[in-house]
Amino acid sequence: MTNLDGPILVTGARGNIGSRVAKALAATGHAVRASARDLTGLAVPEGAEAVALDLTDPSGAAAALDGVRTVFLYPTRGDLGDFLEAAVKAGVEHAVLLSSPAAYDPVEHAGPIGAAHQAAEAAVRESGLAHTVLYPSWLGSNVFRDWAAQVRAGRVSIAFPEWRINPIHLGDVAEVAADLLTRTQFRGRSLVITGPESLSQREVVAAIAAELGRPVEVEELTREQALAGRPEWFPEAMFDSLLGVAANLGDTPATVNNNVERVLGRPARTFAQWLHDERAAFELE
Ligand SMILES: NC(=O)c1ccc[n+]([C@@H]2O[C@H](COP(=O)([O-])OP(=O)(O)OC[C@H]3O[C@@H](n4cnc5c(N)ncnc54)[C@H](OP(=O)(O)O)[C@@H]3O)[C@@H](O)[C@H]2O)c1
Repeated sequence: MTNLDGPILVTGARGNIGSRVAKALAATGHAVRASARDLTGLAVPEGAEAVALDLTDPSGAAAALDGVRTVFLYPTRGDLGDFLEAAVKAGVEHAVLLSSPAAYDPVEHAGPIGAAHQAAEAAVRESGLAHTVLYPSWLGSNVFRDWAAQVRAGRVSIAFPEWRINPIHLGDVAEVAADLLTRTQFRGRSLVITGPESLSQREVVAAIAAELGRPVEVEELTREQALAGRPEWFPEAMFDSLLGVAANLGDTPATVNNNVERVLGRPARTFAQWLHDERAAFELE
């Protein structure tokens, strides 16, 4: 059974994941209402509506939810309660909540990233809205967020280079989300999806160098050095907590599953494919 009544509301539509979810839905012929807090410069797929919405400020909820039965929900920090109450009242039948493995990781679940995601999950659960929590693994976009400038300079400085991660192609995250939003078959309490390989951070940097065709060195930092060099935008407690996860895991292989293939009927795309598809992002300042 599909739920195609009215537009699908995609929150976080400016984001790496939300923009791709909107695109994946539009590409398969679904009506999309894309939201951002500020619509300035928001690019939406052809034919999609754009609506201003702050998930922590219910004043925009009624307009955003009018006629909507399905919502892609970004796990924003802050109180989602009023928005969710408005969604239930408006007749929303199912939400797909983006979450993070931090919500269940044995170390991080009690840390700041885990706690924020658990709070979003609890808010959705307590609203009574039927939902599926989507847990993508380590996002391929992290390499641009964390390392683009260092890659351009030819040297990436990292603590725990043997920490193994399971990078996922954001196109796969978006297509799985679009499936959950438009078909009932794989809906449930939660869905953990991963990339197809367990790679150490050192191997990830080697893959970047191979894609770009130029050397990129790895400089190993101590945990203290990494913390001291933390990017300004990354809250210290969160950064330290992630270092704690890496320290705790050592070189244990990252968990890999085939849930992308089970949902989409084709294998998850590799990290090399992600780099190839998105390599231009390394050139952006
Ligand atoms: N990094 C990882 O490896 C990893 C792994 C698993 C899951 N995740 C999850 O994925 C998220 C990152 O996704 P992404 O890369 O798509 O993020 P992103 O590109 O940074 O985009 C963040 C989006 O959140 C929206 N947003 C923030 N606060 C909001 C609010 N109060 N109301 C409405 N929208 C709000 C922003 O909307 P505006 O346009 O209004 O600013 C923006 O579209 C992480 O925060 C985490 O929850 C991350």
